[in-house]
Amino acid sequence: MKDIYILGIESSCDETSVSIVKNGREEIATVIASQIEIHKDFGGVVPEIASRHHVKNITMVLEECLQKANMTMEQIDAIAITYGPGLIGSLLIGLEAAKTLSFIYNKPLVPVHHIAGHIYANSLVKELEFPLLAVVVSGGHTELIEMKKHYQFEKIGGTLDDAIGECYDKVARVMNLEYPGGPKIDALSQMGKDTYKLPVPLRDDSYNFSFSGLKSAVINLAHNEEQRGNPIRQEDLAASFQNTAVTAVTSKVRKAIIDKNIKHVIVAGGVAASKGLRKGMEDLCHELNIDLSIPPMKYCTDNGAMIAAAGYYAYLDGRRSDLNLNSKSQDTLK
Ligand code: KG4
Ligand code: ZN
Repeated sequence: MKDIYILGIESSCDETSVSIVKNGREEIATVIASQIEIHKDFGGVVPEIASRHHVKNITMVLEECLQKANMTMEQIDAIAITYGPGLIGSLLIGLEAAKTLSFIYNKPLVPVHHIAGHIYANSLVKELEFPLLAVVVSGGHTELIEMKKHYQFEKIGGTLDDAIGECYDKVARVMNLEYPGGPKIDALSQMGKDTYKLPVPLRDDSYNFSFSGLKSAVINLAHNEEQRGNPIRQEDLAASFQNTAVTAVTSKVRKAIIDKNIKHVIVAGGVAASKGLRKGMEDLCHELNIDLSIPPMKYCTDNGAMIAAAGYYAYLDGRRSDLNLNSKSQDTLK
C-alpha cells in the first residue's frame, strides 16, 4: 500500500503546532510554539492573547515543519485540523491556515476532534488493540471512552463538574503554585505522604467522575489549618490530593475494564503526564493483566503529531470537510 503522509495542525489552546506523520504511526517532523511562559503571569491562558500569538506563529511553525521533514506540500496526502473543542479564537487561526493550504494545494481537509488527537497520540507509540478503553484526562476533559474499532468512539462516562486537570490547577492556586499547577502538584507529591484525609468523590456504580467536591475539600482544609495556625505541609497536601484524585480515576477504570472486557487501556491528555496517575494506572493494569499505553511526556501535551495520527485514521474512515468547516468551542467526540 502507498504510504500516506498527513500534515496535522493544532491550535486549540496555547500551543501552535504542525506535524507530519506517516501512516498514522511514524512521526516525521513536529514543531511546537508554546505560549506557557506568556500566560504564566496571568495565572491561566488569556484567549485574546493566545489568538494573537497563533497568528504570529502559524506560518513560521508550518514552514519550519516542512523544512525539518525535508518535504514539500505536494508530497502531503491530506491536512488534518483540530476543529474543536477549544478556545474559539485560537481554533480559528489553525483552521484558516488548514483551509488555505487545502485550497491552494488541492488536498483533502480532514476534521479532527481534539480528544481523538489525544487518544491517537498513543498510536505513535504502540498499535491500538480493541476493545480499547481510553482514559482521557486533561484540562478540559475527564472521560472514559470505549472503542471497539478504529475511529469509533463511545463515551461511557465523564465528569459531572470540573475536569481533573482543572481541579489540579485550582488546587495549585490555593497552594500558591504557579500556572500550570498540575505538574507542580505532581512534583511536590513525589516528596510527600498521603497524610491529609480527603474524601474520594463519587463512589458509585457509574463510570462518571466529580472533582469539584474534592477541590472544595482541599480549599476548606487549607483554610481550617490556616485558622488554627497550623502551617500546611505542601508536599503532604499535594500527595494527599493526588492520591485521592488518582483513586477516583482508577476505581472507575477498574470497573470499566471488567464490565467491558477491555484488552488495551490507553491514557490520554495533559494529566497523563502525572507520575502519580501513571503509577496508579500501571499498578491497576498489572494486577488485571491488561495492556496499558501512556504516551511519553512529549505527546501528553497538545501537539500536531497527535492530530496528524488521528487524522490518518479519520482519513481512512472517509472523513472529509469542505471549506465551510467551522471551529467549535464545544463538541462531542463521535
Ligand atoms: O491536554 P492538555 O495539555 O490541555 C487540554 O486540552 O486541556 O492538559 C493540560 C492539563 C493542565 O490542567 C495541567 O495542569 C495538567 O494537564 N498537567 C498535569 C501534569 N502535566 C500537565 N497534571 C498533573 N500532573 C502533571 N505532571
Ligand atoms: Zn489537549
